[in-house]
Amino acid sequence: MTTEILVHAEAGVMTITLNRPERKNSITSAMYGAMADALERARGDDAVRVVLFQGHETVFSAGNDINDFLNNPPAGENSPVFRFLHGIASFPKPLLASVCGPAVGVGTTMLFHCDLVYAGDNAAFSMPFVNLGLCPEAASSLLVPQMLGYHRAAEALMLGEPFMAEAALEVGLVNRVLPPTEANNYANAQAKKLAAKPITSLVETKRLMKKGQQAQVLQQMADEGESFRRMLVAPAAKEAFTAFMEKRRPDFSKL
Ligand code: COA
Repeated sequence: MTTEILVHAEAGVMTITLNRPERKNSITSAMYGAMADALERARGDDAVRVVLFQGHETVFSAGNDINDFLNNPPAGENSPVFRFLHGIASFPKPLLASVCGPAVGVGTTMLFHCDLVYAGDNAAFSMPFVNLGLCPEAASSLLVPQMLGYHRAAEALMLGEPFMAEAALEVGLVNRVLPPTEANNYANAQAKKLAAKPITSLVETKRLMKKGQQAQVLQQMADEGESFRRMLVAPAAKEAFTAFMEKRRPDFSKL
């Protein structure tokens, strides 16, 4: 049982907290497994009506833990990371997130599966998969162009540069921007409001909003996963990860 993911359920709200600040809340396979397990419990437990993801006031998540990724590359659709991604993409009850500071890689792509997202004004969203010699995951190659429009999506997914909370608000990724000290409390209050509503109506509303492309989202995720696993052991990713470890800029000029 990892303490790097804290799970707390109260008043119908399960809060899943990323709790690895010394590594900027980067996510290991043990942490993905813990979050996937919590989502499974939440799905089957009538006492949980809403799930809220949160990080720290200064950082939401630095994405995949790069060392762990190299040592424990995701092996297939039953790996913890894919169980987690599948879990958020098919979660029937409301999912909320409160995001402050950097939200890198999956720290951003997971938000496209949340129903409500609140951000601190220090939030910085980025999807630097190309810079790591990888490709998008979590169906972001489908969902990001849908929300941002193709050209802004290409900028976010190809250049991989961060965009800030106000830009995220403008494109609809975020519902509201708050001071970082208030974001988690505000998101929790919104989660409690939802938890007081009839769960059958919430679940049916979400199902109806999502059903048009649910199968496509899961298929896109599976296709991305296949490419991602292949690219993870290819030369571009090796160079990017080695450069990260050696604290230098990667050199892709010969790749
Ligand atoms: N995997 C493993 N370790 C990570 C990490 C990650 N994704 N992100 C940060 N860390 C480690 C750093 O290596 C550093 O370790 P050190 O103290 O031994 O040097 C420590 O966490 C603190 O990170 P640092 O970069 O010093 O913090 P920062 O506040 O300057 O920057 C980020 C924060 C999130 C912007 C920056 O850490 C970052 O860009 N991380 C990589 C993100 C990434 O590429 N993720 C993969 C997405 S698929």
